[in-house]
Amino acid sequence: FVHQLADESVGMDQLLRSPLRLEAMPGLPLPPALYGAQRQNSLGLDLAVDAMRAPLLQAHAATPVPPVALAETAQVDAQVRRALAAHPAWDGLPVPERAQRLRSAADRMQDALPRLAALLVKEAFKTWGDAVAEVREAVDFLRYYADEAVRIMQPVELPGPTGESNELRLASRGAWVCISPWNFPLAIFTGQVAAALATGNTVLAKPAEQTPAIAAEAVALLHAAGVPADALQLLHGPGETIGAALVAHPRIAGVVFTGSTPVAKAINLSLAQKDGPIVPLIAETGGINAMIVDSTALPEQVADCVVQSAFRSAGQRCSALRLLCVHEGIADAVIEMIQGAAREQVTGDPHEWRTDVGPVIDGEAYENIQRQLTRLHAQARPLLPPGDQPPATRLVPPQAFEIADIGEVRQEIFGPVLHVVRWRGDPKGVVDQLNALGYGLTLGIQSRIDTRALALAARAHIGNVYVNRNIIGAVVGVQPFGGEGLSGTGPKAGGPNYLLRFCAERTLTINT
Ligand code: SER
Repeated sequence: FVHQLADESVGMDQLLRSPLRLEAMPGLPLPPALYGAQRQNSLGLDLAVDAMRAPLLQAHAATPVPPVALAETAQVDAQVRRALAAHPAWDGLPVPERAQRLRSAADRMQDALPRLAALLVKEAFKTWGDAVAEVREAVDFLRYYADEAVRIMQPVELPGPTGESNELRLASRGAWVCISPWNFPLAIFTGQVAAALATGNTVLAKPAEQTPAIAAEAVALLHAAGVPADALQLLHGPGETIGAALVAHPRIAGVVFTGSTPVAKAINLSLAQKDGPIVPLIAETGGINAMIVDSTALPEQVADCVVQSAFRSAGQRCSALRLLCVHEGIADAVIEMIQGAAREQVTGDPHEWRTDVGPVIDGEAYENIQRQLTRLHAQARPLLPPGDQPPATRLVPPQAFEIADIGEVRQEIFGPVLHVVRWRGDPKGVVDQLNALGYGLTLGIQSRIDTRALALAARAHIGNVYVNRNIIGAVVGVQPFGGEGLSGTGPKAGGPNYLLRFCAERTLTINT
């Protein structure tokens, strides 16, 4: 064991300085208003969801998935004009009044939790645990950005020479385009929209085609809470037509997009090529997210964190674990435990209470994953049985493959598919290889040597680093979320700098 650690460049003085941790330790007091922050750990959430079982199932029986009307490309110009016309009145409201309307929407959303969660199960095929967590995250975004807008939108007096007053203040930019994904069709949708509205912008929201009904519910709640209809307009339809027409419109003030890296780049190009002002883009995209496990890590903890991070939500999170880099000294023990833990995962119908891994979103996603699985079966060592679900179910049981080299992972597979690679020597080299992949969203480090974990975290060009825990489920206001490089532009959603990008900065200097 000691010989192995010497091989990993660890001195005896650093040995076993961290305690074993299977559960989160108590930390700083958390913001009480935020739902997500109240959870102690994933077990706490599961118990809370169990306690809501009766109202959730009742709502499930009573909630249809309503159809929506598709927008026409020819309407886009008129809708942008309406959003521009609505801007002065919405922007003219005092910031606390706008914030109050967003808080009212949060209260309505909280009251509607069973119905919204049921809709997430029916329309997005979420498991119950994921659906409840998502409604809570959406509520948190509304409350957090309401508070943040009040905090940052006060004018700030700046020092200046005698005879002059100077002030800096933030102003809204105009009409924002919000393009959101199907994997968090309520939370990310609501977060984008709430950020733009809180800062006095008006919004044209284009949700994912796969999940329009939940977006329509969120918009109805915001309208009922006092956001004017023209200040928040919803446009359903394909990204290729409606999304593209919104982005190409010469009078929009900004775009916030969550989705794939190629689409983010296409949006950036479209914004750069059109007439009109230079338009900011906030893009949050994917990642080849890894977890580095050294030989001091606790295999039971690693297996639990890996199964949650790689397979929960059927791997359809941008934060999900794609690549486990495990020290060769404990690789066999870790792999065996992951195999055991993965076998316990129930893959099946999301409407069932017991399901851990539901279907992937649609046939196209299923086909893409199957193509990657076929390639991996030919090139890598399978670590988990393939499962035998009929294609019509779109169920992909958790899959894992051992590969020889980190460089073999070239693209994100958006499903419950894990790559495992063994390493030896200095883990800093592993971080360097991960940095070279060019993505920078989430990273896990499992080690009982604090100094090493901190050194690796500091070396990584990665937005969200988690030590000795899972790497999913960033909490609003607690783990601001977002990456760098191929993973996005920043700023981090649910963090104190997010709203700044939705604003213009203006100074006022008066010769007194
Ligand atoms: N914010 C989500 C998470 O942290 C991913 O989009 O899992």
